[in-house]
Amino acid sequence: MPTTTSPVPTDASVLPQAGGATVRKALFWDRIAPKYAADPIADMPGYEATLQRVQALLSAEQEVLEIGCGTGTTALRLAPFTRRLLATDVSAGMIAIAQGKLAAQPVPQLSFAVADADVPVCGKEAYDVVLAFNMLHLVSDLDHTLQLAVQALRPGGLLISKTPCIGEMNPLIPWLALPLMRAIGKAPAVLNFEGPGLHAAMTRQGLDIVSVERHGTRGKDIRLFIVARKPPEFAHSPGGPLPRLGGRGPDNFINRSNP
Ligand SMILES: C[S@@+](CC[C@H](N)C(=O)[O-])C[C@H]1O[C@@H](n2cnc3c(N)ncnc32)[C@H](O)[C@@H]1O
Repeated sequence: MPTTTSPVPTDASVLPQAGGATVRKALFWDRIAPKYAADPIADMPGYEATLQRVQALLSAEQEVLEIGCGTGTTALRLAPFTRRLLATDVSAGMIAIAQGKLAAQPVPQLSFAVADADVPVCGKEAYDVVLAFNMLHLVSDLDHTLQLAVQALRPGGLLISKTPCIGEMNPLIPWLALPLMRAIGKAPAVLNFEGPGLHAAMTRQGLDIVSVERHGTRGKDIRLFIVARKPPEFAHSPGGPLPRLGGRGPDNFINRSNP
């Protein structure tokens, strides 16, 4: 079946405008953006291992979209290995800091834009790679976000993600500590899934799991690094994602830690 592709957007003006829901999602992140930018990376060897791994998957021919890029640290490191990287985040505060870093350290392949990963990007099937680091546990509907990421990918393209699986933590954290912190504005809403739930969500959107890794070097590592491929023969079904698995089972249980 022929696929429709549209050009990759080159600047923020062509991205969908922020609606009320998007603005609300950004509130927490806008508030903490300066602190997030100032905090050191907790596990630098683990972070560097992920960067090396991703870099090995990138090439100078690829158009890359990053969703939830935060203050752009990772995009600045990876963009030189791509043809172009558009790094997006729902938080204008995060993107303002990222723009400042880019101005201080220009990388011609890189641009930043405010965009909600839950709203379709311009440029359907326009990207070879979609990157999602430390953000898939933060969206309100994982299946919907993954569906949009798959739509943005060309057939054969890669979704490369690293995601804290909150369901693998001590249960007191998702069921007690996080809701309390959220009540006082110190934590965002998070999805509570384990690794199998995340794989299953990707598979439900028609992605093939290429690799599942853990790069952490300190204690128990709940951050799952997953490379998933959109099959070359992928066909978008008008009613939603292609069913690859049966319905939700106990191993793909996903809910919010703060119901
Ligand atoms: C924990 S930070 C991770 C930032 C960066 N990817 C990193 O690894 O350091 C999560 C980021 O996801 C962004 N985010 C949360 N929900 C989002 C959404 N629906 N669309 C786009 N970005 C989102 C937040 O604004 C925040 O910058």
